[in-house]
Amino acid sequence: METPQKYALVGAGVRGLEMFARPLVERFSDHAQLVGVYDPNPVRARYVSDRCGGVAVFGDFDTMLVATHPDVVIVATIDRWHHDYILRSLAAGCDVLCEKPLAIDTEQVRAILAAEAHSGRKVTVTFNLRFAPLMVRVKELVQQGAIGRVLAVDLAWWLDRQHGADYFRRWHRRLENSGGLLVHKATHHFDLVNWWVDDEPAVVFANGQRLVYGPTRAERGVRCTGCPHHTHCEFAIDLNADSLLRSLYAEAEAVDGYWRDGCVFAEEIDIWDTMSVSVRYRGGALLTYALNAYSPYEGWRATLTGTAGRIEVGEALSGLPAQTPQQTLTVCDLRGEQVVHTLPKVEGGHGGSDARLQAELFGERRSDDPLHQMADAHAGARSVQIGAAANRSIRSGQPVEVELDE
Ligand SMILES: NC(=O)c1ccc[n+]([C@@H]2O[C@H](COP(=O)([O-])OP(=O)(O)OC[C@H]3O[C@@H](n4cnc5c(N)ncnc54)[C@H](O)[C@@H]3O)[C@@H](O)[C@H]2O)c1
Repeated sequence: METPQKYALVGAGVRGLEMFARPLVERFSDHAQLVGVYDPNPVRARYVSDRCGGVAVFGDFDTMLVATHPDVVIVATIDRWHHDYILRSLAAGCDVLCEKPLAIDTEQVRAILAAEAHSGRKVTVTFNLRFAPLMVRVKELVQQGAIGRVLAVDLAWWLDRQHGADYFRRWHRRLENSGGLLVHKATHHFDLVNWWVDDEPAVVFANGQRLVYGPTRAERGVRCTGCPHHTHCEFAIDLNADSLLRSLYAEAEAVDGYWRDGCVFAEEIDIWDTMSVSVRYRGGALLTYALNAYSPYEGWRATLTGTAGRIEVGEALSGLPAQTPQQTLTVCDLRGEQVVHTLPKVEGGHGGSDARLQAELFGERRSDDPLHQMADAHAGARSVQIGAAANRSIRSGQPVEVELDE
């Protein structure tokens, strides 16, 4: 039997709890051991500990590393600090599992890649969408040559008014914290396309607008709690109506002033809610990408056109359009024939992808990875580099060359 790997968690928010800490303790204790939790907010850290068998809580990150000697540090903090904890973990001789995005800008990405190379340790980015059944089927088909060499990809992603609005309520709404949705959110989507086409981005041009959130409405407050518009604002939320939101955020906010229900019409919002990006890959393929954060329901649609055919795929993720028992993907060949792949829907977080990734990370070690689903730091870097280049392109109005990360 293998010796269990020792894991320490930094960042005791909802993702740290639900994606990492609880599964480690509840499902993978034969192979893995959670040895410590650190978060600058001790209320959240203690809540995670209480839900995870009383795992030790530390008041300082470096003290946790010295006291627990983890093999792996899991980084699930707000995005702006990922690079900082990655560098400190590598310097302490630990491997790192980092939530997406790897980092929020080019300088941070460069520092991580240099530190990883120097340390001889390994950084893995937990891109769960590489484990979603439809995304996997696209990868398999492209890898099998079903549509030949990929020449053009269209990918549209639309967030709904609950999930999408959430990015405008809290830390994500400042570029300095998240890199905006072109880094924070689109890092998933750019990674998928990079993985599918197996190529590197060369040039990016982007547009970004703030059309729904931010100070677009006169009737606005500071936060939903105590807001005079609470009863008639369609974006109002009640943190106390949900036990997880109450325990992790409402009851912890006095410590650090982190409001989970900031007004989505706040002046300080500086990220975009409507984005379009054009990417040229080194091999010549073009990606046309669109993202918005205020759709009536959530979903995505992609087409990949290659030298021998085309894949059409997509799914609704919320609302009435999502009430279907299955997912479909169509492959069209140059003779005009079509093959429809019908996949049963998988229950669980992010279409079942969270559980599959957890099994890969924390379950029995698998020696092969035929679809290259585990994303290394270079994959994490490439997707951040597209988002960072898109942010620069929006600011300058010019196309931007993607900076090589290796
Ligand atoms: N892969 C996915 O599908 C997915 C889904 C949700 C979130 N995420 C990622 O997980 C991470 C956490 O997101 P979340 O939704 O749990 O956010 P959250 O706001 O619930 O939690 C973030 C935590 O970071 C802590 N933090 C803030 N500053 C810190 C610092 N300097 N040092 C250490 N900790 C600090 C906060 O106190 C908080 O507990 C983000 O990087 C996010 O992108 C990924």
